[in-house]
Amino acid sequence: MTYTNLLYDVEDSIALITVNRPEKLNPLNIDTVDALDACFADISSDPGVKAVILTGAGEKAFVAGADINQLTELSALSGQQWGLRGQQVFSRIENLTKPVIAAVNGYALGGGLELAMSCHIRIASANAKLGQPEVKLGIVPGYGGTQRLPRLVGKGRALEMILTGDPVTAEEASRIGLVNRVVPLDELIPAARRIASRILENGPVAVALCLQAVNQGVEMPLDAALTFEASQFGLSCATEDIREGTRAFLEKRKAEFKGR
Ligand code: COA
Repeated sequence: MTYTNLLYDVEDSIALITVNRPEKLNPLNIDTVDALDACFADISSDPGVKAVILTGAGEKAFVAGADINQLTELSALSGQQWGLRGQQVFSRIENLTKPVIAAVNGYALGGGLELAMSCHIRIASANAKLGQPEVKLGIVPGYGGTQRLPRLVGKGRALEMILTGDPVTAEEASRIGLVNRVVPLDELIPAARRIASRILENGPVAVALCLQAVNQGVEMPLDAALTFEASQFGLSCATEDIREGTRAFLEKRKAEFKGR
């Protein structure tokens, strides 16, 4: 598969997507957003891909934001369309029922942080800097930053980042829960692969149902979310995987899940 401005590779059922315009710090222009959409649509229907790692090319940036060259001409209407398009693509990523890990290998600014926040798990290299600097350009974050950042780190910290536009270091991001852990740059992709591999040892249907339960449940009132969780639990009870997982435990052996 080839996608504009993306490198794509699958190894051991784990897809590695690399946003690839390192000389410009991997900014997201419309072609790249479209390519991400196409790539995740293909992944969603590809049984050969069971987990995804998303990173940026080079040693300096994950994604340094939306491509500022394409922001200068936006009007109210085209700006709204631009935002809705990015939001739609990032929601596709968030709603994928296969785990997506952002390996943040440097600057994750603006659309770059918004992209990382649409992934299910974030790990960062020690040199990473994460921020929503849009107000420094006189604009509002438009790919979900004003909504996903407060959900991840709380309203007070999110507002400080969004209103000052100042980035946080990888360490600070880890402290406030914006990334799960920090590793040296050369260990970033191996660390992401280890997390993906751990997930792939588990029942694939259960993993998909958990992603739905958490993603949809956090937006519901607790009672409705708990009802939804019970339905997801019920579905998992109807799989071959529950038979295999429970039997393997009782027989003291490793489960061999079929994903059905
Ligand atoms: N859009 C388009 N081009 C970008 C870009 C973006 N978001 N971010 C960086 N680039 C380009 C620069 O214009 C520069 O291109 P050039 O070599 O043709 O001049 C190249 O990438 C390298 O960036 P540079 O600014 O020289 O690197 P730096 O190490 O001095 O600074 C940053 C790195 C990330 C701090 C700085 O590039 C920056 O602030 N970028 C914009 C971040 C931003 O506001 N993102 C949100 C957009 S909504």
